[in-house]
Amino acid sequence: MWDDTGKEYVDACSGAVICNIGYGNPRIANAIAEQARETFFAYRTQFENEPAVRLATELVAYSAPHLNRVFYVSGGSEAVESAMKLCRQYYYNKGEGSRYVFISRTPSYHGSTLGSLALTSYAPLEIPFRPIIRTYPKIPAPYCYRCAYHREYPECDLACARALEKTILEQGPENVAAFVVEPIVGASIGALVPPEDYFSVIQETCRKYGIFLILDEVMTGFGRTGKLFAYKHWDIEADIVALSKGMTSGYYPLGGIMTRNSLVDEVMGSGGFAHGHTYAGNPMACAVGLEVLRVITEEHLSENAAGMGRLLKAGLKDLEERYGIIGQVRGKGLLLAIELVKDRDTREPFPAEKDVNLLLTDEACDEGLIIYPRRCINGLSGDHVLVAPPLIVNEDQVYEIVDRLDRALKRVMKKL
Ligand SMILES: Cc1ncc(COP(=O)(O)O)c(C=O)c1O
Repeated sequence: MWDDTGKEYVDACSGAVICNIGYGNPRIANAIAEQARETFFAYRTQFENEPAVRLATELVAYSAPHLNRVFYVSGGSEAVESAMKLCRQYYYNKGEGSRYVFISRTPSYHGSTLGSLALTSYAPLEIPFRPIIRTYPKIPAPYCYRCAYHREYPECDLACARALEKTILEQGPENVAAFVVEPIVGASIGALVPPEDYFSVIQETCRKYGIFLILDEVMTGFGRTGKLFAYKHWDIEADIVALSKGMTSGYYPLGGIMTRNSLVDEVMGSGGFAHGHTYAGNPMACAVGLEVLRVITEEHLSENAAGMGRLLKAGLKDLEERYGIIGQVRGKGLLLAIELVKDRDTREPFPAEKDVNLLLTDEACDEGLIIYPRRCINGLSGDHVLVAPPLIVNEDQVYEIVDRLDRALKRVMKKL
């Protein structure tokens, strides 16, 4: 990318981890032009439109066999909130109206609207709004580097996953609607991959108490982690999957949820889903989504993310060896992060007021590298940056990213 002074940037975080197919793809420009000559808008209660139907058909074909229904929205927060409301209406229709508790994790980010924010645990985004956000229970994320129980995997016996059962029992299983979780944590902790057996415990617990498992794949979907959807790494059988970001790769606003027949049939059986947005299933957005999905699959971008992700991770690990302020390199595919620490042995974070995540981001920007800064201790302290370039990245560009990051780290060391 180039700014208005002509300075060149390598975007190593795909905007907000969204531009999976990269910028300026002519196939998308053509798809937009073609669709613009057909229909810009058709209201969903009056007409179906071809791009929406085609995209849903292709999404179903690429998804787990039980995920055969699609509901469109225009972004990630709307997708997460639609998942919550679909669950809630399902239980309401079935006469299980006591089920309205949603359990999620801390830290986490699921969106900025009031419902999705109620699932989120990231203090700076919550504090101003606490009186108007519903309080839902949270369990600790599997953040082994900073284990909430001060234990080590596997000796811990996955205490963080087992906390789900404890929380369900505390709430009363008859009151719990769903557990909401990102398969691989994106922004709030920084590319956190759970231990291999984490999701089998989660899945078993959800099944045991008959609660829904909602996967938030807003950041992880569409090839980002090396598979088209991150749930494919562990064959997680989610009841609902929330999608957005890479779905249109930034070329148009679009989101959606995918779910199973039984949920939709129950809700549609008595008057339909009491929820929806005017722009849902917009033909322009769906035409873009369809072409983006074709680019991802035809150009094997999930596979490229897996391969280039390994190379980039190796480059970041090399930086870890050379810079004592890198506490951990983590992630999968092209969703990677480095956590920065004051003391690598004790894992002590930098003082929050030093804002080291922003310092590194600013120095990287001066070096013409865009990365994504966040704080990993519930948004209050701890520093990490996401390194998540578009999935079209090639070997030379990976080396360029590592070089620029190297130069940025050198500058940070001088300033600390
Ligand atoms: C995991 C996750 N869920 C939900 C959202 C919210 O998406 P949006 O910003 O499109 O509303 C985000 C955005 O970063 C996200 O990363």
